[in-house]
Amino acid sequence: MPNDFQRDSYADDASLSAYERAAEQGVDPRCIPKSLVGPPPVGDVIVSPVYSDQDRSNWSFLFKRQMDLLKSHASQVFYTGVDTLKMTESRLPALSDLSQKMEAASGWKIARIPGLLHEADFLGLVSKRLFPSTDYIRGVDELDYTPAPDCFHDMFGHMPLLTEPSFADFYQMFGQVSLNAKGSQRKMLETVHWFTVEFGLIRRDGGIGVFGAGILSSKDEVGHAMGGGADIIEFSMERVTSQHYDVWHLQPVLFVLDSFEQLVSEFRAWASAQGILN
Ligand SMILES: [Fe+2]
Repeated sequence: MPNDFQRDSYADDASLSAYERAAEQGVDPRCIPKSLVGPPPVGDVIVSPVYSDQDRSNWSFLFKRQMDLLKSHASQVFYTGVDTLKMTESRLPALSDLSQKMEAASGWKIARIPGLLHEADFLGLVSKRLFPSTDYIRGVDELDYTPAPDCFHDMFGHMPLLTEPSFADFYQMFGQVSLNAKGSQRKMLETVHWFTVEFGLIRRDGGIGVFGAGILSSKDEVGHAMGGGADIIEFSMERVTSQHYDVWHLQPVLFVLDSFEQLVSEFRAWASAQGILN
């Protein structure tokens, strides 16, 4: 699962469309970032697609399998968030319904997007407390792995955390700060996103819990992260921003927070020192 946005260095600079270039290069076209052509639908105005029986079955299978794999390995915030959003195995949720519940919990709403977005569009939404989410689900032949965004990752992986006020505030600040960033700051912020929003760990009950969406929603990453496959390092902005990562392989290094308050305060201090805090 790649990051949820692509820096613009990856973007179009040729006469071919992104899809045509992807086909030529053998890249899955769903992994080519798109630009929004106008404001996306938000909250109550989002119309749900007509899901097939197979789509609903895929949601149920994925939800049950991840809950079984996670057992008690997820952060408490994740389980609380699943309850707050009333997500269950038996029903593929509607984005409008999830948006209402999320807004009541943390003031965030959901914007429906067509797939992977260019950085400026993605961060523009996040900076306004709007979570960009797809509404299509992976196919039955991709239940173990998909390189593309889908609504199981977006809903199950990301949304429960956005009901938690400290994390919700951090993510909006991340969006605002990232829009102000220049040059190497942008790469550092992409790395922070990877090791928190996508692959973050946090201490809980004397142990360690997962809060990153890339682990929560992935069959292989859960076992790898919780089974001793990764070196787990204490979180610090200095250490995280200098850490290399590879989006196509299981992660050899992960970072653990003491609390989301730690994340907020360290991130704010770093952004202030960089001169990019609003
Ligand atoms: Fe993600």
